[in-house]
Amino acid sequence: MVAPAGKQVQSMFGEIAERYDFLNGFLSFGIDRLWRRRAIKGAAVSASDKVLDLCCGTGDLAIAFAKEGCQTTGADFTYQMLSKAPPKADKNKVSVDWVQADAQQLPFTDDSFDVVSIAFGIRNVENAELAIQECHRVLKEGGRLVVLEFFPIPNPVWRFLFRLYFLRVLPVIAAVVRAGRTGAYTYLPQSVDEFYTANAFAKLLTSSEFKLLSDTALTGGVSRLFVAVKKSQ
Ligand SMILES: C[S@@+](CC[C@H](N)C(=O)[O-])C[C@H]1O[C@@H](n2cnc3c(N)ncnc32)[C@H](O)[C@@H]1O
Repeated sequence: MVAPAGKQVQSMFGEIAERYDFLNGFLSFGIDRLWRRRAIKGAAVSASDKVLDLCCGTGDLAIAFAKEGCQTTGADFTYQMLSKAPPKADKNKVSVDWVQADAQQLPFTDDSFDVVSIAFGIRNVENAELAIQECHRVLKEGGRLVVLEFFPIPNPVWRFLFRLYFLRVLPVIAAVVRAGRTGAYTYLPQSVDEFYTANAFAKLLTSSEFKLLSDTALTGGVSRLFVAVKKSQ
């Protein structure tokens, strides 16, 4: 399962960084916020937890963890996305460590986090398996991995509606607001189709020494929330 090369992904997100937050809210009718809330709830954090939000983009999920009182690090390899995050953290009066890093080669020591989260990021990582192994390495034993992501939708009605929206409506809106001349929003449905199915992703987690705690379909399965725990040796 191989996503486009990292450089391509970086330049795509670099190009849409300026409009990313607006488009996210606008194109998802604000549902993305509810999904992130579910991720926070699924992570079941306590205030002393150390959290790494991977592929953090412009920082919303990392900031939400920091607001729960967690000691939070946000990491992403696209500078233009990451640079939007610190002013938002300041505005929310929380402190987050922002690190420019590749999910496939994390600059953190083993067993350092209680929670690693990835929202709509793992699908874009060139080698998702490698990134999951890195999540495992940096998590403490018993630490939770929380993944929010779009997967191919099993329900035919929701799949039809999703494809209609993502293939027909979304690229037109994105073109009108001139988001992503590199085709970020035509890439989105294609990357979902080419990504792991939810079942295959669950298998990837279990074969990477995680115990799956839950796999929850959100909004008819348009997105899913996986919570898994790092097994003890
Ligand atoms: C769709 S955005 C999601 C951003 C944020 N998590 C959110 O929920 O809005 C995907 C992010 O993944 C990042 N990304 C993709 N591949 C990556 C990698 N190998 N290492 C680090 N970040 C990566 C991109 O730079 C981009 O900011």
